[in-house]
Amino acid sequence: MFDSQKIKKDFPIFEKHPELVYLDSTATSLKPRQVIDKLVEYYTQYSANVFRGIYKISEKATEEFEKTREKIAQFIGAKPEEVIFVRNTTEAINLVAYSLGRKIVDKSSEIVVSLMEHHSNFVPWQQLAFENGARLKIINIDKQGRLLFSPEMITRRTAIFALTYVSNVLGTINPVKKIIKQVKKANPNTIVIIDGAQAVPHLKVDVKELACDFLAFSSHKMLGPTGVGVLWGKRELLEQAFPFLYGGEMIREVRLEETVFKEPPYKFEAGTPAIGEVIALASAVEYLEKLGMEKVREHEKELISYALERLKEEFGEKITIFGPEEAEERGGVLAFKFGSYHPHDIAQILDSLNIAVRAGHHCAMPLHQALKVEATTRASFYIYNDKEDVEKLIEGLRRVEKVLG
Ligand SMILES: Cc1ncc(COP(=O)(O)O)c(C=O)c1O
Repeated sequence: MFDSQKIKKDFPIFEKHPELVYLDSTATSLKPRQVIDKLVEYYTQYSANVFRGIYKISEKATEEFEKTREKIAQFIGAKPEEVIFVRNTTEAINLVAYSLGRKIVDKSSEIVVSLMEHHSNFVPWQQLAFENGARLKIINIDKQGRLLFSPEMITRRTAIFALTYVSNVLGTINPVKKIIKQVKKANPNTIVIIDGAQAVPHLKVDVKELACDFLAFSSHKMLGPTGVGVLWGKRELLEQAFPFLYGGEMIREVRLEETVFKEPPYKFEAGTPAIGEVIALASAVEYLEKLGMEKVREHEKELISYALERLKEEFGEKITIFGPEEAEERGGVLAFKFGSYHPHDIAQILDSLNIAVRAGHHCAMPLHQALKVEATTRASFYIYNDKEDVEKLIEGLRRVEKVLG
């Protein structure tokens, strides 16, 4: 495992809050100094707009901005011209639904999603199905929160297949590579969109290896700034898709009669982007690369394995942990039900001990309905967490029992 105490030194938030036990990286990760410094570098040294200026600081900003595109491309095994900067995962998925989905989905189409999707990868497809009269098919899950996918779900009508790589509630790591292969075998024309919001920050993800058509993820969950998301898409599909937003920067020529758009990725990047934030995302990727994504995964696997064991040991039947029993099959996410205590009460008492967890439906209401709970408490781990944090969570839950009786 990493020396998390050493890693914590890179995260200035722990200087301000040395007592903080941060167990909410699934919502957003903390940011290392290297990322914050890069953001400050942009704002203090070359805070000009990109692509427009014929002067040095604008050229520098453009160069740094494009460096991030290259960095991201290399990180996920893609080509830079297939990397589009948007605001977050939500926008990336909406872009695909609007720009391509609307074009290819009609009354005869089927869209397949899973029960474990975050609303970001559920509502855009549900809405598209509703507006275009298509049928929405849902992949169910078993008792351990594993997908019950069968290739028979894919027919010649399946236009879209949208699936999360890692569940933000169950922690399930879906066997996406295998599933994509099955989907494409059943219908090579089905467009496969992978929600990588909880995967790219935690595992080695390579789009060529996965053989998906689109991958969406957010900078703020992988040590980078907020306000930046990435959509990777296959070149030929990006060419086929309509632009998402129209306006400045995405055009080649505008005449009164018609407009000619730029090539991808610029065709999808209308308006001034989050320049400093995109630039600083490269530092986040560098940070993760230095640690090594395989090691990040190993660290989280060991931590989740320890947490599963210790929580069961301490609380037995009193705690219900959702998702697969084996650490091998899950990421560093741990959503649970604790006695009959309400998750909001649990989170509040934990907060009084400086332990930050999440309580609620975690933007996965259909999944919570299936689990027959209104809300869960969710603890999630990342590179700056260690076994001591798990012990603190246990102490915190003991306090919950004491206070709430
Ligand atoms: C699996 C998954 N998909 C999508 C999202 C949405 O990410 P964002 O809020 O950055 O758009 C999240 C956020 O928690 C998530 O966990």
